[in-house]
Amino acid sequence: MAETTRMVDVYVMGKHYAVPEGLTILTALEYCGYRMVRGCGCRAGFCGACATVYNFKNDPQLRFDLACQKTVEQDMYLTQIPFFPAAKTIYDLEELQANGDQVLKLYPDIIKCFGCNTCTKTCPQELEVMWYMSDALRGDIKEVANKSFDCVICGLCAARCPQGLVPYNVALLCRRLYGRYLAKPSKHLEERIKEIEAGKFDAELKGLKKASEKELRERYNKREIEPAL
Ligand code: FES
Repeated sequence: MAETTRMVDVYVMGKHYAVPEGLTILTALEYCGYRMVRGCGCRAGFCGACATVYNFKNDPQLRFDLACQKTVEQDMYLTQIPFFPAAKTIYDLEELQANGDQVLKLYPDIIKCFGCNTCTKTCPQELEVMWYMSDALRGDIKEVANKSFDCVICGLCAARCPQGLVPYNVALLCRRLYGRYLAKPSKHLEERIKEIEAGKFDAELKGLKKASEKELRERYNKREIEPAL
């Protein structure tokens, strides 16, 4: 006898649907007929476009995740946060200095953090958000850059901060300052840029642009992969 797909009950913005088990929240929304014009990007956990908030029937505790990564569960109540209107300071990286005063000048509100740790609990990447905010307050730009390296800028930390702080933008500033002013220059990168500027890859690039999708796929599958260190 053919196996039948098990269906799970979910509620999208309050409306009930039955969707096949094993779908991600994103594909379940599409299965229910929602067209994701916003709130969907790479579908692979990298772009941060698909922040999602959910809880369960009879369990009001809010939970947070990336809709393209989290699979549906029975009795989930779902909604998407495709954009959160968080404060973003505009600056010219070339005019900044890589120190704590600079971070405070651009994001003075970080002194209002009272350590509730909601940002950390909310982060779908399981980053130590509150700790990197305290590093930012101490002016430790390198530590903020390290701790926030896997941030996908989904906005959920800002959406939940009771003080209205925007941890992901503070972290972005620190990663930029670190990359521009503090990180050791990469010899390998400099050499590669020189090669690009000298036109070493022009012919190959031209060939790729002309290739069909089939050919591109074949070349991708046959590509040389650097061995893991
Ligand atoms: S769609 Fe890009 S992280 Fe989910």
